[in-house]
Amino acid sequence: MINLPRGTQDILPGESEKWQFIEQKFIELCHTYNYKEVRTPIFEHTELFQRGVGDTTDIVQREMYTFEDRGGRSITLRPEGTASVTRAFVQHKLHGSANQPQKLFYIGPMFRYERPQQGRMRQFVQFGVEALGSSDPAIDAEVISLAMSFYRSLGLKSLRLVLNSLGDQESRQKHRTALINHFKPYQAELCSDCQLRLEQNPLRVLDCKKDRDHIAMQNAPKILDYLNEESAQYFEQVKQYLAVMGVDYVVDPNLVRGLDYYNHTAFEIMSDAEGFGAITTLTGGGRYNGLVEDLGGPSTPGIGFAFSAERLLMALAAEGIDLPIDQALDCYLIAIGKDAERKSVELTHQLRSEGVQADKDYLSRKMKGQLKAADRQKAKFVIILGDQELEQEAAIIKNMGTGAQEVVKFDQLIRYIKQSL
Ligand code: HAM
Repeated sequence: MINLPRGTQDILPGESEKWQFIEQKFIELCHTYNYKEVRTPIFEHTELFQRGVGDTTDIVQREMYTFEDRGGRSITLRPEGTASVTRAFVQHKLHGSANQPQKLFYIGPMFRYERPQQGRMRQFVQFGVEALGSSDPAIDAEVISLAMSFYRSLGLKSLRLVLNSLGDQESRQKHRTALINHFKPYQAELCSDCQLRLEQNPLRVLDCKKDRDHIAMQNAPKILDYLNEESAQYFEQVKQYLAVMGVDYVVDPNLVRGLDYYNHTAFEIMSDAEGFGAITTLTGGGRYNGLVEDLGGPSTPGIGFAFSAERLLMALAAEGIDLPIDQALDCYLIAIGKDAERKSVELTHQLRSEGVQADKDYLSRKMKGQLKAADRQKAKFVIILGDQELEQEAAIIKNMGTGAQEVVKFDQLIRYIKQSL
């Protein structure tokens, strides 16, 4: 037997309906907010993520599925969606479109070579949005509220929106210098990753799991104290717009995010539900005003978020929320005898042509077995055909909900079922 690779999963019937439900809900909500779908390839040139996500991130340094294709090109299975969407934005010159900002959403599998655990997969499905072309703080609030509305619409309650600002280039530079000065005396005591991070990307030291309890972490310089006037004002306005929409948040000056492209607004939505597990982040997102330019386009602001379906479904389970999924089958046809069998094929086909969900027996089961099968499929109606019924050009229709039974002529059958459903 060959099993699936570690960190992946099969989504079987019974479970796949939940996926379809959340996908459909997300698409509907994106349309309500006027976001349009974009679909990009599952693999890209490796360089896209090196430049887009950042050379010093965990993702690029050790989590990418990178391989050489037969043409000798370095290819990577996408670890996230923002770099790809931005690449498409630049490549197709969407910045030249009359529709600005470009408000895009996507749903698709992403790949990261991580240590698998509950809520951390090697293949996972991200739902995300990206709004490119506006630096109005109202769009930051819009993007955040879209995520929150989506979770609320599914019934999630134990949510915490955590907000921070990473400031603009100037603010970040000042903070960077302060971080280096602060951590330098402790450099030898930090983990080997952080020793490197201190040189390359000191902000990421704040996010280190190993050094979390180091004494130097406690009073490390906070980015919010280094925001220049403009950045501070921007952050203030984002918070005001969130208040206007009634979206609650907490500010956490230690929220830094794991990807390099962020500036200004950074946010995560966490689940506080008991039993959700060690990983509490449901959604991560933020502003990335330099990314379009880094990928060869004109200077264009952008903001977005992504969450995985896997973590969302975990959160729903942790809060005991059952999605309203109708597993029932409209009708199941039962036939006894060769002629009835032939007629049931014809009727099943006719019902389906009329948009009625129908199924029948294909295992030549006895009457009792077919009834059992109809029951297992949660059939709303059972249509029974025997020799006697055939002679009368009719079938017995049993309403499985009420138990009521009626003989209905073949030429009335479809109308009868459609009216009863
Ligand atoms: P991220 O924080 O790396 O950001 O991932 C966003 C979300 O993807 C996480 O909050 C989590 O729900 C899900 N996720 C990440 N890794 C895994 C995994 N191994 N297994 C299951 N779920 C996972 C980004 O990817 C950015 N592109 C988000 C963004 C969009 N920022 C701006 N626009």
